[in-house]
Amino acid sequence: KGWTGGGNGGLNFTPVAPSTEDALRIPDGYSSSVVARWGDPVLPDAPAFDFDNQTAEAQAKQFGYNCDYVTLLPLGRDRALLWVNHEYTDESLMFRGYTGGATATEEQIKIALAAHGGSVVEIERAGNTGQWKLVTKGRRRYNRRITAQTPMRFTGPAAGSDLLKTAADPEGRNPVGMLNNCSGGTTPWGTVLTAEENIDQYFVNGDKVPEAQKPYIARYTITTGTPAGNRRFDRVEERFDLAKHPNEANRFGWIVEIDPFDPDSTPIKRTALGRLKHEAANTTLSRDNHLVVYMGDDSRFEYIYKFVSKNRYIPGFDRHNRTLLDEGTLYVAKFTGDSPAAEIDGTGKLPSDGAFDGSGEWLPLVSGDKSYVEGMTAAEVLVYTRVAADRVKGGATKMDRPEDMERNPVTGGVYVALTNNTNRTAAQVDEANPRPSNKHGHVLELVEKGNDAGQRTFAWSLPLVCGDPADPATYFAGYDKSKVSPISCPDNVTFDRDGNLWISTDGNALGSNDGLFVMPVRGKERGHLRQFLTVPVGAETCGPLVSEDQRSVFVAVQHPGEIDGASPDQPASRWPDGDQPRPAVAVVWHAKNKKIGS
Ligand code: FEO
Ligand code: CA
Ligand code: CA
Ligand code: CA
Repeated sequence: KGWTGGGNGGLNFTPVAPSTEDALRIPDGYSSSVVARWGDPVLPDAPAFDFDNQTAEAQAKQFGYNCDYVTLLPLGRDRALLWVNHEYTDESLMFRGYTGGATATEEQIKIALAAHGGSVVEIERAGNTGQWKLVTKGRRRYNRRITAQTPMRFTGPAAGSDLLKTAADPEGRNPVGMLNNCSGGTTPWGTVLTAEENIDQYFVNGDKVPEAQKPYIARYTITTGTPAGNRRFDRVEERFDLAKHPNEANRFGWIVEIDPFDPDSTPIKRTALGRLKHEAANTTLSRDNHLVVYMGDDSRFEYIYKFVSKNRYIPGFDRHNRTLLDEGTLYVAKFTGDSPAAEIDGTGKLPSDGAFDGSGEWLPLVSGDKSYVEGMTAAEVLVYTRVAADRVKGGATKMDRPEDMERNPVTGGVYVALTNNTNRTAAQVDEANPRPSNKHGHVLELVEKGNDAGQRTFAWSLPLVCGDPADPATYFAGYDKSKVSPISCPDNVTFDRDGNLWISTDGNALGSNDGLFVMPVRGKERGHLRQFLTVPVGAETCGPLVSEDQRSVFVAVQHPGEIDGASPDQPASRWPDGDQPRPAVAVVWHAKNKKIGS
């Protein structure tokens, strides 16, 4: 496929201005509606949502809280399966008078367990437009809720390892539930990969594990003691108490594969992809058809990873393809700048060669049963991947919070959202992370050798150094900064069929709400970033997804109203229904049914 975006990437809409309104603001000429919100029925027998009388039984059949990754699996032109991650719960907005896990009712804790995970829902096109709606009648055979209590299994080299065994699962092969599923990816065979991210916050007594395990608990910042903010899942399920079940923490932090077309399938935690605070798991094929998965570890000073399958993807050979994620090599990225270190002076000024750029290398960590890290077994590398990346020879590069990472299907460039890192000091800047106290983040572009995702080396550059365009320490790929939208804290990325880069934000440090942006990555318009929408007060923008037919943009509006001190009695947002805020997936389309971006 060639570059089809034309000079301006087909983008002609007038950008929306930064906003602090409690509304989803979209460009003139566009319409929007809510597809699915917290509490909407997923299973056909789900009761109607009742904010003041919630039950765990109802929640387990209803759309979960805080939607993040969104993907669409077509069932035809006008019908599709929508997969949505439910990353985490905000009990102080879900329950009146909530004062923490220690005093929560057991029912509230069980509601929270059921509001995590993900949903599969059937959706249908509304008329001949880009609008999509939940199917609310009939059998809905694919509709499914996956929660923190759904039985799962481990596969791959670490399955059955001693590090994964617990009293409830002496084989170390049958974990229960998934937590903090942030971003994800979709496989060429139509399954969903969902990434367990901040799993540290669900446990108690991380300081009461065996002495030898303590450094690993610390490296994954797992909760010690029983802090006031903890959800206290241990009060209803003992496994969350690490004093009693120290290995339970090792059973979270994985990439989970889910088959949305088989509602009876068991979700699979794929150990070959390592254990991190996983953000994303976007797939592509190498030139010779090996499956490649790109992954970020979203914390300050963490690393970027990729997995390359040992065997080749064979179109249509489903049984074979479903083994690809169990055997392969896990790599971590090393970035080397090409400008003298003295020119990376921390002001954000471009070095004399005119770019933050350089070369890089994927350093192997583990391949099947073979560890490349001295002193660590293959199973240890996979369960304690952060430690392996710290120790690997050659020196992996500590990045400014690597979030989503995805390969442009048109150009082959791989884009990484580096959301921010306010802890980086002037002494710690490098060409790939050039700003100290990086409040606004940047976007990294990586082009692998021969534009082949299977290669071990690459060139890289920073097309965006985010912030207020009037700030000299920002960069928009050399484009006229008087014509671009301000952007802060890039989080998720996606592409439309023209190869334009769409970027959503979380944590806008410029004082207005988060939003969704788009820019061409090639030609004269490279760097011409425009804001496409803004989300309500307190929300971050997740998803995002442009449909294959380019008639619809889906966004997950996560945690509307999540402002310090907000509560059901004093909500900071009333989106989407003028009542209590409810995290929701929305769809935006052109009112005259034109291509998105027109
Ligand atoms: Fe859940 Fe890194 O965002
Ligand atoms: Ca340079
Ligand atoms: Ca994210
Ligand atoms: Ca993405």
